[in-house]
Amino acid sequence: MLNKFEEIKEKGFIEIENSNIDFKKEIAKLKKEKNAVILAHYYVDGEIQDIADFVGDSLALSQKAASTDADMIVFVGVHFMAETAKILSPDKKVILPDLNAGCSLADSCPDDDFEEFIKQHPDHVVVSYVNTTAKVKALTDIVCTSSNAKKVVDSIPKDKKIIFGPDRNLGNYISRMTGREMVIWDGACHVHNEFSLEGILEQKKQNPDAKIIAHPECPKQITLISDYVGSTSGLINFVKEDDAKTYIVATEPGVIHEMKKISPDKFLIPAPGEDAECACSECEFMKMNNIKKLYSCLLHELPEIKVDKDIREKAYKPIKAMLDLS
Ligand code: 13P
Ligand code: SF4
Repeated sequence: MLNKFEEIKEKGFIEIENSNIDFKKEIAKLKKEKNAVILAHYYVDGEIQDIADFVGDSLALSQKAASTDADMIVFVGVHFMAETAKILSPDKKVILPDLNAGCSLADSCPDDDFEEFIKQHPDHVVVSYVNTTAKVKALTDIVCTSSNAKKVVDSIPKDKKIIFGPDRNLGNYISRMTGREMVIWDGACHVHNEFSLEGILEQKKQNPDAKIIAHPECPKQITLISDYVGSTSGLINFVKEDDAKTYIVATEPGVIHEMKKISPDKFLIPAPGEDAECACSECEFMKMNNIKKLYSCLLHELPEIKVDKDIREKAYKPIKAMLDLS
């Protein structure tokens, strides 16, 4: 029989055997008892978004994590998000329903390789997307999210050279938007990088009045045919404010839950991925979160996110620089 820590090491979470539990009711009870706040990203299942205290994109979630007065943050998202929350609120307990909820983009940028890359390009200002590990953030001058990447790059004096990592699609998009040449790390998100141009054009043929909207983590051929490119919140707001009826949505389809809530009269079509078998474009890491694991992590206060003091202090500075600018 495994103890709790061995079980987390093996599975990423502690299994709940009893399925006769009213999970929503128990989560609400535990949350109150422990003065916990549930923060969820728009990519997690709608069922979880509905019981979260706050749902947002990466930027809004970091802002919330920095300002909450709860004792415990339950981060229903992926590891780098919970880690960022811990860096911002080191005295709070930060827990994540499944420790294996990682991120292919963060994984595409190992810290030792990134450090070497920085050494090869001395005298550059290092801008890193929030989808990175704490160790990569510790090597960074200023963090950004997709909501504020343009603003962050624009804030850097024109005579300074820039390293941008790890997302090449976002980096190239921001380079086009700002006219700044940047040295860009060659990483990508396996969800956004895989949208099918042919599939989207086929959807457009069948829905000629539809507007194509895309996240800037998508490759150039997708952003070029899009009517609007923006962060998760940007896409939600665009659908709300815009007067078209139908949208082809090229980002993780979890976002459609909020779009439908605030724009119930709109018709939303998830853009297809290249994978012929699945073509669903879901982020399997975000989808590792479920209500049972959320209950388990609140009950056991595990898995807990910890960041070494030295790394945390170094990683705090570039995140704080971003928050101050936002
Ligand atoms: P935003 O929340 O900044 O839109 O980023 C999307 C993302 O990839 C989160 O993993
Ligand atoms: Fe990472 Fe992509 Fe999933 Fe976002 S959608 S968490 S960038 S793998």
